[in-house]
Formats: sequence, structure tokens, C-alpha cells
Amino acid sequence: MAKDKNIYVCNACGGTSSKWLGKCPDCGAWNSLQESVATDTGAPNKNRFQGLATPQPVASLSSIEASDFARLATTIDELDRVLGGGLVDGGVVLIGGDPGIGKSTLLLQALHTLSLQNKTLYVSGEESGAQIAMRARRLGLDQTQVRVLAEISLERIIATVQAEQPRVCVIDSIQTIYSEALTSAPGSVAQVRECAAHLTRLAKSTGVTVILVGHVTKEGTLAGPRVLEHMVDTVLYFEGDTHSSFRLVRAIKNRFGAVNEIGVFAMTERGLKGVANPSAIFLNQHPQPVPGSCVLITLEGTRPMLVEIQALVDAGGPSPRRLSVGLERDRLAMLLAVSHRHAGVSCGDQDVFVNAVGGVRITEPAADLAVLLAIQSSLRAKPLPKGFVAFGEVGLAGEIRPAPRGQERLKEAAKLGFELAIVPKANAPKKSDPQFKGLTIHAVDRVEEALSWVRTL
Ligand code: TYD
Ligand code: MG
Repeated sequence: MAKDKNIYVCNACGGTSSKWLGKCPDCGAWNSLQESVATDTGAPNKNRFQGLATPQPVASLSSIEASDFARLATTIDELDRVLGGGLVDGGVVLIGGDPGIGKSTLLLQALHTLSLQNKTLYVSGEESGAQIAMRARRLGLDQTQVRVLAEISLERIIATVQAEQPRVCVIDSIQTIYSEALTSAPGSVAQVRECAAHLTRLAKSTGVTVILVGHVTKEGTLAGPRVLEHMVDTVLYFEGDTHSSFRLVRAIKNRFGAVNEIGVFAMTERGLKGVANPSAIFLNQHPQPVPGSCVLITLEGTRPMLVEIQALVDAGGPSPRRLSVGLERDRLAMLLAVSHRHAGVSCGDQDVFVNAVGGVRITEPAADLAVLLAIQSSLRAKPLPKGFVAFGEVGLAGEIRPAPRGQERLKEAAKLGFELAIVPKANAPKKSDPQFKGLTIHAVDRVEEALSWVRTL
């Protein structure tokens, strides 16, 4: 038997060291090493590979029947959509998000609908049974059959799950659970990693679907980030502004479905309600067009959504500021440079602020054109015409590159009654298509062309 040995694991890169160091020798991060138990059994035993284990049969891929996973729908449509159709038996789902965003609320609602047909277990390390009951009452689920366990010991949780054999088990949250095998405190990377590994093994060996709740740290990553994401099958993140009532649930990783799919919810007095048609919720309704506003058609997973992009350009001090909310700031600096260099639109001595309305976070480059048009509109103090939409990626050479699934974006805009669209040339529909009825489409392939055309409107 190899003796139990503790190692130190970097919570940034997962690198290991036999003693504690201030700086990770692998990735150079400071103060990132955390105690963990060594999983290695010591020096390799030669005999391990010599005739002790029997060889296993190997099959050719074509001879294996591909069967789709049986899905257990939660009947919360927006949640099923991000899960790729529902939960999978033995699957492990990690749901991350800021405190107070609605993780516990959503999972309690989901467990309630699941408990009508299946056995479920809600393990809470954060709240007592009475607190959960109070939440259930608030959600109008007084008669719910969801079974609750308030416990933080991993060993006791696993024993209970094995005895209860629920179909779905929620662990709220993984950061509060601790294993007796480790000396470090609950929430430390070593504990989170150890507990998640045991719960994953439990899911795979018993077929229980395990849903782990994870808190996000100040830096915006799940505590013990990389290690957890690798272990589980599906990673969902809650996004959104706690000040607005809308919440997005986004799939970051999904072994059983598409990634980048989103579910849209609204937080109401009685819990989270799915928003079936999210297209128009991020649009600010101005009675008259205002300067500095441009509607973007963005694509989230398979869904087109219309989002208002706002810009404000104002005289700045000696070192003008560039700030963005919901959009990437580096990309903003790049767009300002492109518009100056290629289109002669200069904001050099001005403060520039941009914002994606409604607390959405837009990462796709197809937002570039709308950002530039909003900035130009604010700079000139001239609004864009009513019913105007845009999308397209801007390159460093001043070219406008196509965005994926342009036709679907245009279809959504036409459906919502938009009248004028500016799009990359490669995304323009070939002929006048009845699907885009009422929408005039103007195709451009250079930044200067786009900005000067808009000035003529
Ligand atoms: P919660 O699910 O406890 O968040 P998390 O588990 O992610 O930390 O979310 C609680 C917040 O949602 C809290 O601020 C109150 C609000 N809320 C409602 O607005 N309506 C409701 O019906 C419930 C249950 C909570
Ligand atoms: Mg909670």
C-alpha cells in the first residue's frame, strides 16, 4: 500500500506540486496552490501490466448500435432547451451563477415537476428544511413531494442517495459540501474537486442524475473552475443582471446536446417563468428614434434575438475613456481604430461608452457593425431611422465579414416588423424572398461604405 500523501493542486491550471509554493510552477499563477489528496498510488508497479489483468474485447465502432439517450424532460421548456431536450440518466449537470440569481429557485421548481412522476432528492448545504419549505410556499408548491435533506457531509449524502435511490438529485451547493477524507475547509478547491469526483462516480455507477449548484467567484469563474467543468457532462451558467428581472441560462458545455443554447427566464413574485419569445425583450421602446441607439440581430445558440446597442460619445479629458457593458472592451477599442483609419470617423478625444440593453452579454463579433453605427449616431447626434437593424463582423482591414445564419436573423427582424437592415454582402438574400417581406435589405462589404450610406438616411 502506498501511504496517503497530500499534493498541492493549482486551481488555475490543475498543475500539481509535492509541496506548497507561492507561485504555480506550471502556469505562474500566484497563490493558487491548494491541498488535495494524491490520487496516484505511488511508484508504478511493474506487475500491474504483466498478465494480472485480462485483456478486454474491443468492438469496431460501426458494429455498435448508436442509441439516443433517453431524456427525462423537466417540463420547464426553457431549461429543457439548454439541456438539449431534458436530463439524461446518470448525467451530471453543473449550474453556476452569482449568488441570488435564482439557481435554487429554478432547481426547486424543476424538482417539483419531476417529483410528480419520479423520486427526487434536494440536498441543501446552505438552507435548512424550513427555509426551503418557505421558498416552496412562495413558489406556490405547498403540496410538493420533493424530498429534502439538509446535510453537508459528502459521506452521509452518498449513503442517503444510495439508500433513497432518487432519479434526480440536486446538490445545493457543491461549495458547502465537505469530505471527511480531507482536512481543508469546505469550498476549497481540494474539497470541491474531491466531492464533485465522488458525486460524478455515484451518478455513473447508480444512474442517478446529479445536478450540482456552483457559486461563481468574484473573478467570474466557478470556484475550482477547470477541474469541475472537466468532470461533469453539462455546464450551465446563469447570466443576467440581478437588477433586471430577466435571467439567461446558457449551456457552456454539453455532452448530450448543443452548446451556446440559451434559455430565457423572467424572475417573478412566484419564481422563474420561461420566456418563450425572447426576441423583443431586450429592445428598449423609444417612442421616437434617439441618437446613439442601434438594434442588433444577434444569435444565441439557434435563436435570433434583437438587442438594442446604445452608445454615448462625449467630450473627454486628456485620456478619454472607453467603457462597455455587455460587450467586449478590447473589441470596442479595435472598432474605434478601424472606423478612424478606414472611414475617417474619429473619436480620439472623446469618451465612448457602449451598452447592450437588458443585461445580456454579447460575445459574437457580428455585433461590430451595430456598435459602430450606434457610435457614429451618437457622435453626429443623429438618430438612425425607425425600424433599422444591423449585424456584421468588422475586420481590421475595414472589410465587413458575414455572420453565421444571416437568413434566420433577417427572418426574425422581418417577423418583428423591422423595415430596414444593413448586412454584410455575403449575408444578403439572393432574390426578393417573401419571408423578408417589408424589410429592405442593404448589403455592404466595407466599413466606410456602411458608415457613409447611413449618413445619407
Ligand atoms: P435564489 O434561487 O435563492 O438564488 P441562488 O440560489 O442563485 O443564490 O434566488 C433568490 C432571489 O430571487 C432572491 O433575491 C429573491 C428572488 N425571488 C423572487 O423574486 N421570486 C421568487 O418567487 C423567489 C423564490 C425568489
Ligand atoms: Mg441558493
